[in-house]
Amino acid sequence: MKVKEPLFDYISPNTEYQIINGDCMTVLAKFPEGKFDLIITSPPYNIGKSYETKTSIEKYLETQEQIIAELVRVLSDRGNLCWQVGNYVDKGEVFPLDIFYYQIFKKHGLKLRNRIIWHFGHGLHASKRFSGRYETILWFSKTDDYIFNLDNVRIPSKYPGKRHFKGAKKGELSGNPLGKNPSDIWEVIENDWENLMWDIPNVKSNHPEKTEHPCQFPIELVERCVLALTDENSWVLDPFAGVGSSIIGAIKNNRNAIGIEKENEYCKIAKQRINDLKEGRLKIRPINKPIHKPTGRDKVSQVPHEWVQLEISNANGSNGHK
Ligand SMILES: C[S@@+](CC[C@H](N)C(=O)[O-])C[C@H]1O[C@@H](n2cnc3c(N)ncnc32)[C@H](O)[C@@H]1O
Repeated sequence: MKVKEPLFDYISPNTEYQIINGDCMTVLAKFPEGKFDLIITSPPYNIGKSYETKTSIEKYLETQEQIIAELVRVLSDRGNLCWQVGNYVDKGEVFPLDIFYYQIFKKHGLKLRNRIIWHFGHGLHASKRFSGRYETILWFSKTDDYIFNLDNVRIPSKYPGKRHFKGAKKGELSGNPLGKNPSDIWEVIENDWENLMWDIPNVKSNHPEKTEHPCQFPIELVERCVLALTDENSWVLDPFAGVGSSIIGAIKNNRNAIGIEKENEYCKIAKQRINDLKEGRLKIRPINKPIHKPTGRDKVSQVPHEWVQLEISNANGSNGHK
């Protein structure tokens, strides 16, 4: 019987990729030195998610350091590493993981190029502290001669028509026709570029990329790193690959990629998502797509009549508190 050809192939036939089910420490030992131009990952946070066993922060970091030593070994000399983390919270006390991790990477000779703030507008509402609305990406390079393709990720300037107003270049355009540097606070909403924020929605239930994984990377976040920090045909690695978001962000942009994930169930979802990408079926939030802003006409963005009533009674002092 003739096998039905897919209608589309969104992955270049020259791109190699693999999802490996296993413990990254064991798998990494088999990789040659200097293979990867980009390691991009979000490690387990030790916060008791379904795929992790919560332990003391010291023990957690000890294990992570052994993995990091292996990652530094497999990173190429021109390579970059992006480590995306949030907070570890113990009995209400916040431990910002990037601060703990910074020391480890430094000890292994890596150099920090940016501490990127990834801001998102939604999440749990805290009651005993301010609600957390950002996570960080520590971007390190292995040497001073690292890959950085800024032009691939420039964003539209706010004032493209701006000109030098004095000096030798007076009257000439002062910006770059390709746009401006997106800054270290990442924003993809057009309106918020002015606020210098990269506001990429995190992957929650109403996001088009949502799977059953409890904390996925948005693919557009990976794409920005892939486009800036690798060249075409580079190799990209995610040692804690989850449902394969980094791998998808890489192969979609003609980079070779390997993902390692210890949970077989997530590996299956990752492979299915790659297959869906191959056939043009994968729902991906496009890079730089503006985030939905309430128009003020939607019912949910209006002050409910119960609260309006409350405001009136408060103003009239009818609640007894004058
Ligand atoms: C924060 S999640 C990463 C999610 C991923 N960025 C995505 O978009 O799906 C961390 C993942 O690391 C996996 N993991 C934890 N320890 C591991 C290990 N030693 N080796 C391989 N995978 C591991 C967990 O099962 C989990 O899926």
